[in-house]
Amino acid sequence: MSYHTLLFDLRDGVATVTINRPDKLNALNATVIAELGAFTDRLVDDSAIRAAILTGAGPKAFVAGADITELAACDVEQATRMSRIGSEVFRRLERSVKPVIAAVNGFALGGGCELAMACHVRIASENAKFGQPEVKLGTCPGYGGTVRLPRLVGRGRAIELLTTGAMIDAQEAWRIGLVNRVVPADQLLPQAETLARLMLEQGPLAVAACLEMVDAQAHLGSDDALALESQVFGGLAGTGDFREGTKAFLEKRKAAFSGR
Ligand code: COA
Repeated sequence: MSYHTLLFDLRDGVATVTINRPDKLNALNATVIAELGAFTDRLVDDSAIRAAILTGAGPKAFVAGADITELAACDVEQATRMSRIGSEVFRRLERSVKPVIAAVNGFALGGGCELAMACHVRIASENAKFGQPEVKLGTCPGYGGTVRLPRLVGRGRAIELLTTGAMIDAQEAWRIGLVNRVVPADQLLPQAETLARLMLEQGPLAVAACLEMVDAQAHLGSDDALALESQVFGGLAGTGDFREGTKAFLEKRKAAFSGR
């Protein structure tokens, strides 16, 4: 499958997807959203892809938001549709049981910050900048910003960022829990890949179960989430990976997981 606005690279199970509109700071137009949707389908269906890294082309931006040229031309119906389509793509990405890492290499504003938040983990380069500047345009986030930002950084900090449109640097994003770590720009992709490969070394069914349960707990009460965890924990005990992982530990060797 070829893309017009994404660069795609697959190496030993790790797909790197680069949003490639550097002259527009990788802004999310309808084509980028559609192609991210197509990539997400592939991520779910293609067993050759076991983890993904999302990043932006050029030294300046991860994604500088929804494409404002397209947005400016929207009426109520079109804006609602645009938000629903993008939101659904981001939600499918978030629900992937294969790890997705955002490697944030510059501006992550509006839809860019929302895309990074829909990924499971965020690593930022030292020059990254984050914000939800939609209020400056007289609108609000449309791809999940009001939902995911409070969950990541807490309600008060999220409300401040959302209602002022303020931009924060990578260190501040790390301090408030928006990103997992900050690294020098030349270390961004290597560190994202190292992290992806560390996840791939673990029992794949177990990693998938962790991702699924962390997602599920967001909409379950504590009792139901804990009951689900016990059920999944029990289920994993019936897998070959559990036998192999525990046996390898007791035999003081590295486990060879099969994903079954
Ligand atoms: N949508 C469409 N085009 C965008 C864009 C967006 N979200 N963000 C940047 N661009 C375009 C600019 O229009 C410019 O295009 P041009 O060269 O054809 O004029 C190009 O990308 C470079 O951007 P520019 O503004 O010249 O770079 P800068 O370094 O001066 O400023 C930003 C960088 C990120 C501060 C600034 O581009 C910006 O504020 N972008 C919009 C961010 C935003 O509001 N996002 C939320 C959208 S809902």
